[in-house]
This record gives sequence, C-alpha cells and structure tokens, in this order.
Amino acid sequence: MATAKQKVIYVCTECGYESAKWNGKCPECGEWNTFTEEVREQTKPAAASKGGYSASLVSEMDAVPIDDIDITDELRYDVGISELNRVLGGGLVKGSAVLLGGDPGIGKSTLLLQVCGKLCGKMKVLYISGEESRTQIKLRAKRLGVGGQNLLVANKTDLSAVLALVDSIKPDVVMVDSIQTISSEAISSSPGSVSQVKECALMITRQAKMAGIPVILVGHVNKDGGIAGPKVLEHIVDTVLHFEGDRNYAYRVLRAEKNRFGSTNEIGLFEMRSGGLVDVENPSQALLSERPHGVSGNCVCCTMEGSRPILAEVQALVTKTGFGQPRRTSTGFDFNRTALIIAVIEKRIGYFLGGMDTYINVVGGLRLDEPACDLPVALAVLSGLTDTVISDRLIAFGEIGLAGELRSVSNVEARVHEAIRQGFDCCILPEQCVRVLPENLKKRIRLFGVKNLYEAFAVVRGDVQAEQ
Ligand code: TYD
Ligand code: MG
Repeated sequence: MATAKQKVIYVCTECGYESAKWNGKCPECGEWNTFTEEVREQTKPAAASKGGYSASLVSEMDAVPIDDIDITDELRYDVGISELNRVLGGGLVKGSAVLLGGDPGIGKSTLLLQVCGKLCGKMKVLYISGEESRTQIKLRAKRLGVGGQNLLVANKTDLSAVLALVDSIKPDVVMVDSIQTISSEAISSSPGSVSQVKECALMITRQAKMAGIPVILVGHVNKDGGIAGPKVLEHIVDTVLHFEGDRNYAYRVLRAEKNRFGSTNEIGLFEMRSGGLVDVENPSQALLSERPHGVSGNCVCCTMEGSRPILAEVQALVTKTGFGQPRRTSTGFDFNRTALIIAVIEKRIGYFLGGMDTYINVVGGLRLDEPACDLPVALAVLSGLTDTVISDRLIAFGEIGLAGELRSVSNVEARVHEAIRQGFDCCILPEQCVRVLPENLKKRIRLFGVKNLYEAFAVVRGDVQAEQ
C-alpha cells in the first residue's frame, strides 16, 4: 500500500526547479526571488513487479507500423477569424491543446469569446471561466454580439469539476479562462502555484487528447512577459500563442511561440475596437497610415513575418545628452543590435553619438527581430542625427556587418513586391540582392543596390542616382 507523508519543498516559479531549501537566486535559470513554498504529498509507489514492469499492461498491438496509422480524421476546425487561423497554421487541430498568454487586459478573453461566437454556429462550445461570473461573460458577449444555444458557459475552478463537466457535456471545443484559476484538491498548494498549474494543464490536455476535443487555455504572464508557471507548461501543450501589444494602442499582435502543427513565424494582427477585435487584413497600410511627412528620423522597413512581408515605420530621435551618460532606448528592436549599429555608425561613417541620447521606436507595437531591419534603423538614426529628411516613398532593408558592409537577406522579391504594392517607388537594398530580382520587377521601382552603410546614406542624401 502507498504511504503518504507531507514534505515542504521550494519551487522556482520561472523554470520549475525544485529545492529542499529556499534560495534567493534560482541555480537553474538564474532568476532572483522566484522561489515559493509548496507542500507535497510524498507517495511511495507500490513495489514494482518483477523486472519493474507488468507484461499484462501491454500487447503487441500497442506499437503499430507508421504506414498503418490513419490520418483521415486529422481535422482542423476553421475558427472563423482569419488571423487566428493563420497563426494556428490553418485552423484549430482536433484534440490539440493551445495555450494563449498575454498581459492583463490585452484581450485574451475577448478573443476567446469571439472564437466561441464563430464556432458555436457549427458546433457545441464550452467556455469555462474561473475569472468572471456568468453575468459578466454575458455582458461581454452582448457587447461583442456573441450568442447562441450551442455556447455553454460555466463558472468552475475545481479541476475534477471541469473534467467531469467536459465528460458529461461532450462539447466539440473547450475554452478555459484561465489555467491559473483552476486548482486540484489532490494538491495542497494554493491555486496558481507551479504544481497546481502543471497538474491542471496536464489533466485537461490529457482529456482533450483522449476525447479528441481541442482545448484553448488562457495563461497569465509574469513580470517579464513569459507565461506564469514553469516552462513545463509550454511543453505540455501543442501550441503556445502570445498576445502582445500596448494596451494604450489599438493594435495587437498574436504570435506563435511554439506550434506542433504549423510554422512559428506567422503573426496575426488585430485591432481592438469598441465591438471587439477585428482582423487587420492589410497590415502594411495600417501600420503606415499615420506616418508624418517631411520629418527627419523616419525610415520605412520591410520585415518578413512568416511568409508575409510587412512594411513598418522605424523612428529615431537623436538629441543632445543632458547628463554625462547618453541615454539609449529601443522599443520594438533589439537593444544590443541598436548599440552595435550605433558603434558601426561611429566607426565607419564617422559621426559621433557619444554625447547624444538615441531613442528608437517601431510604430504600431511591432517587434522587428530580423537582421534585415538593421539598415532602416541605421538610416533612421543617421537621418535623425543630421536632420536629413528621408523620402516618404523610400524603403530600405539589409543586414549590417561590423565593417559597415551590407549583407544580403532572404525573400528579396517578396519585400520589393510589397513595397511596390504599397506605392513606394524607391528601395535601398544590398547590392547582391538586386541580382536575384527578376527583370520585370526592376522596372517597376527604382533600386539602389549598395555595398555599405556609407553608400546607403549617400543615396538618402541624394548624392547618388538610381542604377537601372
Ligand atoms: P480582456 O479580453 O478582458 O483582456 P484579458 O482577458 O487579456 O485580460 O480585454 C479587456 C480590454 O479590452 C479592456 O481594456 C477593454 C477592451 N475591449 C474593447 O476595447 N472592446 C471590446 O469590445 C471589448 C470586449 C473589450
Ligand atoms: Mg481575461
């Protein structure tokens, strides 16, 4: 018989590392002040049978040849929201578990309820909320214009009640808002603790897989923007989505951080309106709509988000430092990459930024994490520094090397195509990239193939004519 006794352990809320004593700094992930106390029931497993396993538990049929596995029922549900379908890799896979994370108030519950509204026309949807009362959900649903007999709403926080409810109702899709509010009685630690979140996510996911019901779980994020609870939570589910953006701006970006059934490069862009989230079908146009004209420090770049080219505006403000140490901030672009670009400008172009504060901002809450965005950032800084206005019909892309040289990037054709589509008539790009472009595209836009940052800046100042 199993023997049970209680033991106090300390668990890192960041990575799930367990220790017998409290630590200020986690030896595993290096985070400070993340250890919380948890009480564990220690159960000793019943003595294993001979050899450590029981032969009666398995049969030869448990392992089948891969060719014999039938995939005709690998089904994707169209969630009715095209941007979400895109991020999921073409729809919600039957029996999959999706974790949706994001800052409070970013719109996770709104998105889920809108998905429920789209799905409940075709199938039975169960929306379990541990955060809001049924009346609150109804009020929100009314605002979003969501309703129907097939959308069932429940207030449950107990894991066994959630599992039993899913079992008895047998819905086609389950939504849980949020996983941190669900707790299991079998675990003595408080709701939201690492072991509770882990256990609840595991049980709900297991049930979803066995019954073939897709489940979407909402996960809170911690102060650094990661999903609260240990990394193991991200291992348990099939897909991890992150809802990002500034609550003060209307645009929201949905990003896949992990996806067992699709690419993680795709992003979905939404706009929060009074009637809920709306798909942004032409992101470039939306992101460039409020561009100031004739102002220095602005440059348009073309970044690839998955298979989709998106034009975005990079802004740089360069001003004299008030104090000894220059301030550098970077929103939407890697801070270390900004420091590198500034160093290249100082060393290779000869402008001194040591006494200048430099602020970089990517408009619309977009994050540019592609080397191709080096050139537009550098040009925006140079433009801001020298008060040179960059033509508002010019785009630039290219990776900058430490010698100030421009290196070629991928998807050149798609980027140039998008620039033409959005009405741009001039493009600065690495010299090698021009060669790969088809002739007919070259005729539709003025291309400046440049070798280094110096040449690129000369084009911006108007010293160089287009090479056609
Ligand atoms: P919510 O979905 O509750 O966020 P989360 O679940 O991620 O915490 O989003 C709430 C925010 O969205 C709130 O600030 C109000 C705003 N909102 C709208 O602008 N329009 C709407 O139609 C709805 C329902 C919410
Ligand atoms: Mg919510």
